[in-house]
Amino acid sequence: MFSHPHSRPSRFIFLALLLFTAILFPVGQTHAAAPDPAWSSKGMASTAHPLATAAAQKVLEDGGNAVDAALAAIYTLDVVTPYSEGLGGGEFWVVHWAKDGSVITIDGRESAPAAAKQNMYLDTAGAVIPGLSTYGPLAGGVPGSVAAREEALKRYGSMKRSRIMKDAISAADKGFILTPSQGAIFEAAGPYFQQYETSGAVMFKSDTTTWSVGDRFIQKDLASTLKRIAKDGGDEFYRGETAEEFARYMQEVGGIITAQDLADYTPIVREPIHGEYRGYDIYSMPPPSSGGIHLVQILNILEEWNLEQFDRYSARYYHHLGEAMEAAFADRSHFLGDPAFVNVPTEGLTSKEYAVELRSSINSLWERKVRGPGDPRMYMENPPDSLIKPSHTSHLSVIDQWGNMVALTTSVNTHFGSKVIVGSNGFFLNNTMDDFSIQPGHPNAFGLIGEQANAIRPEKRPLSSMTPTLVLKDGKPFMAIGAAGGPRIITSTLQSVVNVIDFGADIQEAISDPRIHHQWSPDYLFIDPEISPDCAKELYRLGHRVVRYDLGSVVQGVMIDPETGLYFGAADPRAGGTAAGVR
Ligand code: GLY
Repeated sequence: MFSHPHSRPSRFIFLALLLFTAILFPVGQTHAAAPDPAWSSKGMASTAHPLATAAAQKVLEDGGNAVDAALAAIYTLDVVTPYSEGLGGGEFWVVHWAKDGSVITIDGRESAPAAAKQNMYLDTAGAVIPGLSTYGPLAGGVPGSVAAREEALKRYGSMKRSRIMKDAISAADKGFILTPSQGAIFEAAGPYFQQYETSGAVMFKSDTTTWSVGDRFIQKDLASTLKRIAKDGGDEFYRGETAEEFARYMQEVGGIITAQDLADYTPIVREPIHGEYRGYDIYSMPPPSSGGIHLVQILNILEEWNLEQFDRYSARYYHHLGEAMEAAFADRSHFLGDPAFVNVPTEGLTSKEYAVELRSSINSLWERKVRGPGDPRMYMENPPDSLIKPSHTSHLSVIDQWGNMVALTTSVNTHFGSKVIVGSNGFFLNNTMDDFSIQPGHPNAFGLIGEQANAIRPEKRPLSSMTPTLVLKDGKPFMAIGAAGGPRIITSTLQSVVNVIDFGADIQEAISDPRIHHQWSPDYLFIDPEISPDCAKELYRLGHRVVRYDLGSVVQGVMIDPETGLYFGAADPRAGGTAAGVR
């Protein structure tokens, strides 16, 4: 496996050392050992569901490229993980094209409908109307996913759409078996589906009981929509029968997305955010995502510290990570928004010089300034829900035999988006309007706050945290990675990259490791429950308001070992994804 100047000893030596240490010091690290990553000599995909990974794998094996495979996987995910993403959502692609060495991004983020207003989620007294930006037809932006996919297909695709979408259509038509965790997700959303007949018709098995574990979940309406898209592509979604039904249904249930909004939607090809970290080139998503800027900003802050001096499971290491994250998220809330509407100081935010200034403002190398009272909630099994909310989104990563790479993050925002299935189209409308700052200082579903830069305007794209990321070494493909999980997307992607580059972890270990998260507001250092109580206490002593809680982020990554040329891939053990290579 990839050997790095800072890499750990071989697995055998490591295990021997661990055994020796365990005998001498019985109280050791508490995290579980990760299994070996998937490997192949010819290409690799990692997605959030085994059927989507299999669809990508088959395309790669049939001679398709990374974009063909990503398309096959993403359309399959629309069917098998409709709570995370779907045709009614938005997404960001980062693509490395090996032939010319280029890296581009495709912005398929939802846009605010033309009739959207800055105060549309406020009552006449200026107070936020609870639930209006997260649930129901007004919560949805104009979907961009299909447009982004069409752009990717047009630029790079080598297979016909009908071939690429074959497995997705079959999964919708013939159904697939729900897993225990999917059954639980369906059940939790059950009460919301009651309000919209279209949602109930698809999601309920009988009366108000949702389909559940072991059931074969069939989606005939979605299969029909997918077949129409397979035939006529973006034209069908934005101007055809699907668009007509979309606009008709929005009128019926009081939504504001019109046929004109759909016809006007365009994906945008953007230059990636580029940073350098310890000799690696990092490419990620620019605004309207905050992901790329803050990934690079945090890496810049970390770069001057010799992270090797820390045990990577120690409070000292987490302290430094948390401080760097906090500095970046403070800037996110103030400066970031859709670049068509605000002047984002990208160059400054990603400069090494600015990182020097931020690092010097981190109080001291070892002790954090205590910013308020302590928090007894670190001693609670289940902290209040308002601290960290359920989320979703989906990330997939692919590298093909030619070295083309795709990192693709896609979302309907929170589970099942607005919870509204769009008429007879069979897909959920997103609730991504909630990613705008609906009122200055009012936290969104992820507790993030924002200001004017991310205020609602017609046709504006809401700020995102999605961080699809590619890493190149000496111009050659090295890694494709990214995550799901709201703002934890940025920090989970970051920690996985650092685990590989600084600590020489293999891709599975890098993704499986416990993680932390700080987003400046609220001022809590969230830590995975796998991190020991002793470590939590040490962080608390250093001045952090610590909350031990399942962070709910999910990473999918693939990479090429520069020494052997072998491909490795891993899916996050926190969710049901898989990685698989060309056989
Ligand atoms: N909807 C989550 C994000 O884009 O950050």
